[in-house]
Amino acid sequence: MMGERLQEAINEQINKELYSAYLYLSMAAYCEAESLPGFAGWMRAQAQEEQAHAMRFFDYINTRGGRVVLKAIEVPPPVWKSPLEMLEQVLDHERKVTGMINLLYQLALRENDYATQIELQWFITEQVEEEESASAVVEQLKRIGDQPMGLLMLDRDLGQRQ
Ligand code: FEO
Repeated sequence: MMGERLQEAINEQINKELYSAYLYLSMAAYCEAESLPGFAGWMRAQAQEEQAHAMRFFDYINTRGGRVVLKAIEVPPPVWKSPLEMLEQVLDHERKVTGMINLLYQLALRENDYATQIELQWFITEQVEEEESASAVVEQLKRIGDQPMGLLMLDRDLGQRQ
């Protein structure tokens, strides 16, 4: 069994991971509407990863004999000014998630919960990748600027992710 505070904090993280999935799904819808199918596919894959993160925490609470309690998911924004603005939000969001995972880790340290520390190490490594992949697309978009051909080529590249 894990402590009440840690269980509550992980339940909160399940909600944040599901919000991340919802946010990226909203971005996928925006990309579809903007005729950027490659970006849309990339966002869908991101949304699926976030759902998998939520389920990993969900399963972890159950494995430890805890109780999963789901909460309302915040409504994500529906539009962005540009693909660059959207990807900058992805990067900013991932940095916030990294901060949340770090706080969870600090709590697990304070509570001497070694099993949760080990579980969270997977997420700490995952966040390094998440920030790196969002940052790479932001950099590419900055280089492209307002060249439509560059954007189309990047859209084709991102479409290969699925
Ligand atoms: Fe679940 Fe992208 O962090």
